[in-house]
Amino acid sequence: MAKARGGTTTAGPGHLDALDGYVADSLYPSSFHAAFAPPNIDAILTHGGIASPRGAAPRGPFTMVDIGCGDGIGLILNAAAHPEGHFIGIDGNPAHIELGASIAAAGGLPNIRFEHACFDAARGALHAATADYVQCQGVLAWVSEANRGHVLDLAGHLLKPGGVLAIGYNCLPGWTPIMAFQQMVRALAADRRGTPVERFEGALAALRAADVFGREHWEWIDGLRARFPADYFAHEYLNENWCPLWAGDVVTAAAARALACAGQARPYRLRPDLALKAAWRRSLDAIESAAARETATDLFTGNWFRTDLYVKGAVRRLTAKARDEARMSGWWAATKPAGEARFEARTAAGTMGFDNAAAHAILATLADGPQPLSVVQGLGSADLLNAIDALFMAGEVIAVDPPASVPHASAVNAAIQAAGVGATINGAITRHGAIEIVRGSPSTLTDEQSRRLGF
Ligand SMILES: C[S@@+](CC[C@H](N)C(=O)[O-])C[C@H]1O[C@@H](n2cnc3c(N)ncnc32)[C@H](O)[C@@H]1O
Repeated sequence: MAKARGGTTTAGPGHLDALDGYVADSLYPSSFHAAFAPPNIDAILTHGGIASPRGAAPRGPFTMVDIGCGDGIGLILNAAAHPEGHFIGIDGNPAHIELGASIAAAGGLPNIRFEHACFDAARGALHAATADYVQCQGVLAWVSEANRGHVLDLAGHLLKPGGVLAIGYNCLPGWTPIMAFQQMVRALAADRRGTPVERFEGALAALRAADVFGREHWEWIDGLRARFPADYFAHEYLNENWCPLWAGDVVTAAAARALACAGQARPYRLRPDLALKAAWRRSLDAIESAAARETATDLFTGNWFRTDLYVKGAVRRLTAKARDEARMSGWWAATKPAGEARFEARTAAGTMGFDNAAAHAILATLADGPQPLSVVQGLGSADLLNAIDALFMAGEVIAVDPPASVPHASAVNAAIQAAGVGATINGAITRHGAIEIVRGSPSTLTDEQSRRLGF
């Protein structure tokens, strides 16, 4: 049985060794979360008129802590791509921490450390008010209510005033149809023997044979199974306390720790006028409570996953002038080769078209590598800012940093491959930050990608 420092490690139901009910005898294949990379968080905050933790110096020193980092691969990619930053990964599963720490050591990364601690004890291991960013992906809806409190307490403890918590979790109402499915899988796995993966597979086969769920359920789960490693499913479906959350409850619990909701980290929600129907916006504008407004937004859109940003303490607002200047000096990269962009995208509000001169000019400028918006020639800033919003929301561009030397990139890539986890990672290191790539593709970029994404 895994024993975590200072925390509670218990044997769960069946043959599950568990961290307070969370699967601990299987390694979670961790991911790179592009929405929580510093350049993306900063671009979203700046768009909302909020000063980002790094302010006007995106390559200045900063600290990012990852609560529940898993094996820490996503954090390692960030650390290699941001030599100016300091990174700390916390997890209660010692095997996760050992794997992350061994890859970081083999890659010679000097700016990352891993702490083995459970959420209830990690406070003691780390100083208060030392983090500019805390990220926590895929944890809150997978752990007990007490641990949800510990996670938010820890984030509130670690963040400096003005620092940002970026937290991703399954939410309601979108997960409602899947709750019954998870309930059945966990019940059918409870008395089975074997590894978590074997118990999940056995339960799934029994559930398929029982014919309780319709075709669309099986198409959905089989589609996921084609894309994700087997251990992912044990972590997703066998945890005792798995429970999708109402955003309003999280907003309220965060507010009790002086963490104020500052929007969503996924760009497709950037502009309510493009992302939400006019009638929805009228209803939302009439709701005073931030918690009720966030829940109502999820009800309108049928949302199933939240990527919340919370600012610690008083929110530092930018003047309109400072906001526009910061946005014009922000750096961007094109996500597709030249000529492959589509100048329209679906949002919850309908189809968003942006086949205009500014959008074309921006992509033409970015074809040979990342650039700040201010270098795009012949157009006014109002048109450029409007076009970059649409391109960002549609996933045609990503926010990146100015270039830096990334001396450990090759050694880290080699260490990831040598550890045998290269085939499942979904991120790559560039001189402009870590970027998302298709899961399972080589972590070394092609020549075209290297030019466009600036390696
Ligand atoms: C679904 S994984 C997410 C990993 C990573 N953040 C990612 O998205 O790739 C949840 C992580 O939380 C950790 N965890 C669960 N309960 C914990 C506890 N009580 N204390 C510390 N870590 C815990 C697990 O070991 C696991 O690595």
